[in-house]
Parts: sequence; C-alpha cells; structure tokens
Amino acid sequence: MWVMSDVVPFSTFLRERSSGAHSSSEGAGFMSDLIKGEGTREDYIALVAQHYFIYEALEAAAVRMRDNPVAASFITDRLTRLPALEADLEFLIGDDWRERIEPLETTARYVARIRQVGATWPGGFVAHHYTRYLGDLSGGLFIGRVMARRFGFETNGIGFYLFADIADPQEFKQHYREQLDAAPWDADEQERIVDEVLVAYRFNTELFEDLARAKAAAAIA
Ligand code: HEM
Repeated sequence: MWVMSDVVPFSTFLRERSSGAHSSSEGAGFMSDLIKGEGTREDYIALVAQHYFIYEALEAAAVRMRDNPVAASFITDRLTRLPALEADLEFLIGDDWRERIEPLETTARYVARIRQVGATWPGGFVAHHYTRYLGDLSGGLFIGRVMARRFGFETNGIGFYLFADIADPQEFKQHYREQLDAAPWDADEQERIVDEVLVAYRFNTELFEDLARAKAAAAIA
C-alpha cells in the first residue's frame, strides 16, 4: 500500500495530518479570547490548574517510559514542566493551591488516556509527548509572552512557558523531528501514532470547551 510516509519524513507526515486538528485547538474560543486579551487572570489560572493534572500524568509516564529505547530518545529533563507548574500555582493561588484545584471532565479523561498508553504503548506515549511539548515550544512560547504582558508576570506565574534549559527551541524541535523520523515504526504504527496525536488534540480542544463552560457557569452562579 502506498502511504505518504514512504516519500516524506514521518515528522512532516504527522504535522500535515494533524494540521486541521491543530487549527481547531488553536482556534478554540477560550484560547483565542485569552490571546486577544479578552480572557481574565482567573481564566488563565484555570488553564494552569488543568495543565498541572495533564503534566503530572505525562511526566509520570515519562519516568516509566525511560526504560523503553524508542520512547527514551524523546525524554529529557530539559522538558520537565511539573515543578514550574507547581511554583506557578503557588504564586497564582497560594500555599493551599492543591486543595483548591480539581480536574475538569475532559482533563480526567485526558489523564486516564495518558496513563493507559503511558503504561503500555511507547508510540502512543510519544504521540502525547509530541502534542504537548512541541506545542509548548511553538505556540506556547507566544502564549507565555502574551500572558506576561497582559497580566504583568515576569517569571512567577508563567514559569511553565519558560524553558530555561532550552536555549534554541527551533533547534530542539528540529532534533525532535529527526528522532521522529529515525524511530523504527512501520507504516501501520505510524498511522496509529497519527491517530493518537489526533486524539490528544481533541482532548486539548475539548478542554478549552470545558473551560469556557465552567466560566459561563461561574458567571451565572
Ligand atoms: C493560541 C494557540 C496556539 C498557537 C498560536 C499555536 C501556534 C503554533 C505555531 C506557530 C506552530 C508552528 C511552529 C513551528 O513550526 O516552529 C505550532 C506548532 C505546534 N503546535 Fe501550536 N499553537 C497553539 C495551540 C496549540 C495547542 C493547544 C496544541 C496542542 C496541545 C498545539 C500543538 C502544537 C504542536 C504539536 C506543534 C508542532 C507541529 C510540528 O511541527 O510537528 N498548539 N503551533
């Protein structure tokens, strides 16, 4: 069977196959409101809280996946976000932040999926790892700058978006794409990984929808 990945590198195939899903995530109302300056500080904090649960699952999976030779080639401490998220939440909410946050419905499903593939399927783990971290090193850097300007953060509150150990995100992403291209996945596995990336994007889009709904409910209450 002819598949596009025979002629183009897997990283390109993956980006092209997921670009529609990326547009949906990027264009979700909650996110575009935040970018346009129409979101509030509380909206931003609500997003950081959901990131906490997602990265707790993703980075616990990364610890387990370090023993897998394929997954391990994508894992590096330079990406680790959980300590930055904890510090951001302490700054934004206060010492009792852990008692004051909880996962939204989509986050709970997203976390369950990360835990499931993170325990059983290296390619699926990479799909989730790619969707979050390459996004954080792309649009995420822009979002961090916009939030800093809008809410007057310097480093506290936006630590999640500051990759102190990655001086050149473009170079890092290029290396990551080379790892994607070098991974020993056959065409079927590549298809399954693309599908899992689409699942990951869908969780992110649905999370923005949940956040918008929670905000609307709070406005009525
Ligand atoms: C306002 C929101 C967003 C903006 C402005 C944005 C912007 C961008 C831009 C400009 C790139 C291309 C960077 C490059 O090629 O070097 C990119 C790539 C990417 N974004 Fe986003 N993005 C947003 C939201 C998201 C979300 C919510 C996700 C998923 C969690 C995401 C995941 C990704 C991924 C995985 C890539 C890498 C694609 C690849 O090169 O393979 N983005 N984003």
